[in-house]
Amino acid sequence: MERISTEIARVSFRNPVFLASGIWGESGLSLARAYKDGAGAVITKSIGPVPREGYPNPTVVELGDWGLINAMGLPNPGIESYKEEIAIARKGGAAVIGSLFGANPEEFAAIAKAMEESGAVSLELNLSCPHAKGLGSEIGQDPKALSEVISAVKKSVRIPVWAKLTPNTHDVAALAEAAAKAGADAVAAINTVRAMAIDSKAMRPILAHGLGGMSGPAVKPIGLACVWQIYERVKIPIVGIGGIATGEDAFEYILAGASAVEVGTALAQKGAGLFREVCNGLDAQLKEHGFSNLKEAVGAAQCPLCPPCKGSRRKGIASAHGA
Ligand code: DHB
Repeated sequence: MERISTEIARVSFRNPVFLASGIWGESGLSLARAYKDGAGAVITKSIGPVPREGYPNPTVVELGDWGLINAMGLPNPGIESYKEEIAIARKGGAAVIGSLFGANPEEFAAIAKAMEESGAVSLELNLSCPHAKGLGSEIGQDPKALSEVISAVKKSVRIPVWAKLTPNTHDVAALAEAAAKAGADAVAAINTVRAMAIDSKAMRPILAHGLGGMSGPAVKPIGLACVWQIYERVKIPIVGIGGIATGEDAFEYILAGASAVEVGTALAQKGAGLFREVCNGLDAQLKEHGFSNLKEAVGAAQCPLCPPCKGSRRKGIASAHGA
């Protein structure tokens, strides 16, 4: 499917529908499987410096059509043993993006290097987990701390570095600007939206951790707004995430300014056939609206006259993106 192939920071992908972090990323074999099932790339579980158990159960609350709230607590086997899984996924032919977290720039830089050595084609820095003490969004909401992590990682690897941003902030585009200035090659937006559920009978939070992160259909409008605002302010490519379950959802993210998307929560209901379904749907949308390739459609909603775009608003933005 030529029309939907894409490129994020010098790396080409056969299609723009990626497996989001935290879903099926525990093992190299499951990552390879998702790639065989049609994902354009697969993003690993977020990996830290040492093994981490995560929070006790319950860790997930299902909210029907809205989606779900989770607070797993970043459980992972640690980079030393996960290196092997990346190598297995690579041997299985997958384009692997390493997702990583740490408590400081040095931890991020060391894990990044190990992931690069294991064959990851790009990295996605988790600067946005909404509830882990001293990690994730506690770093990523602060432009200075976020910049320090990105600078350190950029010094330790040669592969492209994406910053995964949090929507739990008053100005997500400012975080994207800080990321770009620190050398990030792309941004991914959004991570989950801080949320919780309360059991009124028990009069207690449902999740053992209390706070969690919301994903699924309810967060799509939030993700679209973040991508839109980021696209207006930075030149680097954007990977859109949040509530994507159909080709039309993916197309909306592309129109807002994303060059690729990630699917996560919808996979739980729809299964691995979702990758091909979203790709086919997106391809059909591009064709129907007269785009000969995905790149032409990136950010097209920024101009009310598109397509074909003659509007000054989009022209200004498109030229800022080197188009
Ligand atoms: C977890 C991590 C995340 O980055 C997120 O968005 C939600 C949950 C976790 O492991 O708990």
